[in-house]
Amino acid sequence: MTVTIGGVSGTAERYGVADDEVDIERVRLSMLARTLDPGTFRLLERVGVEPGMHVLEMGAGTGSVSAWLAERVGPQGRVMSTDIDLRFHADMPPNVIVRQHDAARDRLPAQHFHLVHARAVIQHIPERVEVLAKLADALRPAGAMVIEDGAMAEFAEQTLPEPLGSVHRMVATAAMSQWRDPNAGVRVLGWMRDLGLQDLDARGSVRIMRPREASGEWWFLALERAVPRLVEAGAVPESDAATALEQMRAPGFAMLGPTSIATIGRKPASSEVQP
Ligand SMILES: C[S@@+](CC[C@H](N)C(=O)[O-])C[C@H]1O[C@@H](n2cnc3c(N)ncnc32)[C@H](O)[C@@H]1O
Repeated sequence: MTVTIGGVSGTAERYGVADDEVDIERVRLSMLARTLDPGTFRLLERVGVEPGMHVLEMGAGTGSVSAWLAERVGPQGRVMSTDIDLRFHADMPPNVIVRQHDAARDRLPAQHFHLVHARAVIQHIPERVEVLAKLADALRPAGAMVIEDGAMAEFAEQTLPEPLGSVHRMVATAAMSQWRDPNAGVRVLGWMRDLGLQDLDARGSVRIMRPREASGEWWFLALERAVPRLVEAGAVPESDAATALEQMRAPGFAMLGPTSIATIGRKPASSEVQP
């Protein structure tokens, strides 16, 4: 079965959005931003974003975090907002440099940024450890790396009323095989440690997904799109498919969302770097 969630379609090797998926991807990215932005802004405030800073927002999607960072760093600061695909990126104020940039293949300026941030990006990139090393190189001494990434195992395996539970597990299993590392969020702390980053901290948060709310709609839309294909493939009887869709649209329905893990590390100040 082919499922498209998170911009990875079919058996594509790398992240990519097919032309007929552009509209749904735009909706999905804006729901993701609406759901995650408040927590991300609190996280970045805790790490510290000051006027005049140079900041990298990698895999920016719509650019909602870049726009917030631009306000915080002010006219003397700079935000570099990159993505491999800029079709969904909003217009930005003058202190934001928007770049089409493949995190795995393209270069970044060395020792340049006070802060680098990527949300729901590393898990999609096969060369994720190399990308983190590039981000560390791009940080100034004492600069902060903030990576928010998913941990999908509990989300995929949770118990739900049948037949919705079976449909959910089938679609989640197919989707997880396309997310390059569906539990990357759990591993980022170790990768940062191996890179010599310090003051490490990792915290997870889980949202409850409900119908007609941004936190859940990205997944409910994916299920709705997958169900006809499951029926066609003979994996789910038509009557079960209809019941499953009714169950997840019932007004009181709620389920566990994916865990998002925010990992923070700091590059050693120059005086602390070992020879
Ligand atoms: C799930 S979306 C997250 C978007 C945004 N960070 C957010 O949280 O709202 C993943 C983003 O990573 C981008 N991406 C995937 N592979 C990439 C790569 N190799 N280099 C740069 N961006 C990439 C995608 O184009 C997409 O915008």
